[in-house]
Amino acid sequence: MLPEDGLETLAGYDAIYLGAVGWPTVPDHVSLWGLLLPIRRSFDQYVNLRPARLLRGVTSPLAEPGELDITVVRENTEGEYSDSGGRVYRGTPHEIAVQESIFTRRGVERIVRYAFEEAKSRRSHLVGATKSNGISITMPFFDEIFREIAGNYPDVEASLMHADALAARLVLAPGSFDVVVGSNLFGDLLSEVTAAIAGAIGIAPSANLNPEGTSPSLFEPIHGSAPNIAGDGVANPAGAIWAGALMLDHVGYSDAGEQVLSALELTLESGTKTRDLGGTASTDEMTDAVVQRIGDDA
Ligand SMILES: NC(=O)c1ccc[n+]([C@@H]2O[C@H](COP(=O)([O-])OP(=O)(O)OC[C@H]3O[C@@H](n4cnc5c(N)ncnc54)[C@H](O)[C@@H]3O)[C@@H](O)[C@H]2O)c1
Repeated sequence: MLPEDGLETLAGYDAIYLGAVGWPTVPDHVSLWGLLLPIRRSFDQYVNLRPARLLRGVTSPLAEPGELDITVVRENTEGEYSDSGGRVYRGTPHEIAVQESIFTRRGVERIVRYAFEEAKSRRSHLVGATKSNGISITMPFFDEIFREIAGNYPDVEASLMHADALAARLVLAPGSFDVVVGSNLFGDLLSEVTAAIAGAIGIAPSANLNPEGTSPSLFEPIHGSAPNIAGDGVANPAGAIWAGALMLDHVGYSDAGEQVLSALELTLESGTKTRDLGGTASTDEMTDAVVQRIGDDA
């Protein structure tokens, strides 16, 4: 999945722009553990930032225009996505599979603190995803640290919600959220819900950030390789384009990032969109339309 010196090569850059990877004959855990997770972990990209906003020109199945603007902050280096565990008595009726979740104080503190800062820079409203009713060790630990850090942010309205109730509320009242912070698993699941509410999975971007800038950060669409439409020329390019805008912002070209996002919105508004958004444009047609609008006024 990655050349032997792949990480060394990437380490020399400011940012990494990643297309989706995966193919039905390659087990998902091979592409994940052979490429994406080594990049996220070696470069300590502990924040996975997933903005979901209802762009102009896109119809949401659940939200009204202007109603949806949520950022999901997902822990990206530990938690439930750990390779600690194993299987014993394979192939017998007594077979056992054990996989441990890893929650460190350092890991939880830094992601929760990042989420509070993100909320402070937005509408000062933060919800932490927990499940301390069922997961009785790691989740109360997460909650405890969340409450400790909340004490340092009196101006941020902060609360904890069980992840299942939170998912339901996202569907029923998406406009009531600003920033949501969750563990690796909960952040992954909840951001897929917010992406769907924002219109389609093909739109949503994702930034894997090393906030201290000691290693490169990685930018990608949240969708996978969509093998069921591979080669048809109909994949929605919006997620990849929006991820590019986030990358420009990250490397210090915020104006350029805004221009790219604005060109994307103008294009969607004009009706040039792929079929997953109800349009008839091909991937190339939509991409060309965005490129042509860069620099136009929003
Ligand atoms: N970060 C990544 O590279 C990443 C993330 C998720 C899945 N994957 C891999 O992708 C492969 C397929 O996984 P999956 O089917 O679970 O998820 P997927 O995101 O590829 O597809 C899910 C559904 O969304 C549609 N879709 C996805 N992107 C789209 C786009 N840009 N435009 C229009 N429709 C789009 C697909 O056609 C499919 O119906 C697997 O091999 C998986 O391992 C990779």
